[in-house]
Amino acid sequence: MSEIIAIISSPRTGCNSETIARAVAEGAEEKGNKVRFVHIKDLALNPCKACNYCKKNDRCILKDDISELIESIRKCDGLILTSPLYFGQTCAQYRVFEDRLYSCIGPKGSNIPAGKKVVSVVTCGSDGEDSQVQADHMNHVLKKYFGGVPIGTLVFKDMGDKDAASKDCEVIEKAKALGRKF
Ligand SMILES: Cc1cc2nc3c(=O)[nH]c(=O)nc-3n(C[C@H](O)[C@H](O)[C@H](O)COP(=O)(O)O)c2cc1C
Repeated sequence: MSEIIAIISSPRTGCNSETIARAVAEGAEEKGNKVRFVHIKDLALNPCKACNYCKKNDRCILKDDISELIESIRKCDGLILTSPLYFGQTCAQYRVFEDRLYSCIGPKGSNIPAGKKVVSVVTCGSDGEDSQVQADHMNHVLKKYFGGVPIGTLVFKDMGDKDAASKDCEVIEKAKALGRKF
């Protein structure tokens, strides 16, 4: 059995990106995988200080919840990354998480084992094209710097409705199909 970690970065509980991630997880679980959800909003995470301590010491100097999260990412087999689109970009919570992955690039390069499958989900009000760019970029970062293997992206427009994804059978089915690729 493979273990997958779903990263939820929206500050809203029960939000569209989480609903879609749960459907991706359902598809992945149908294939015998186990999915664990991590909500960035529940963690104490500080922004990267750009001190470059990690470049000599292979770990982050900051003593917060990133070490445990990074340790579980090292051990897992796949990632479901999610973010809402805020002003055309991933949200601040996602950016903090992503920047802190910089500490996984040590003196000998990435210290995250390569080959993890990655799915990125971005939800937005209406800017579907910007969301696609961001979802592709989330996958790109994992691939380029950590040897991740992107297996797909999913973008969803909520048109201002927090519960839009749960009412949209098409996106839920698409998400489950994506999850079955894990
Ligand atoms: C601060 C802020 C900025 C936003 N900026 C955009 C935007 O640039 N384009 C867009 O289409 N939607 C924008 N939205 C709407 C959210 O992306 C949208 O509601 C998304 O589905 C939220 O995801 P969630 O339900 O997972 O929290 C913004 C929302 C907030 C709170």
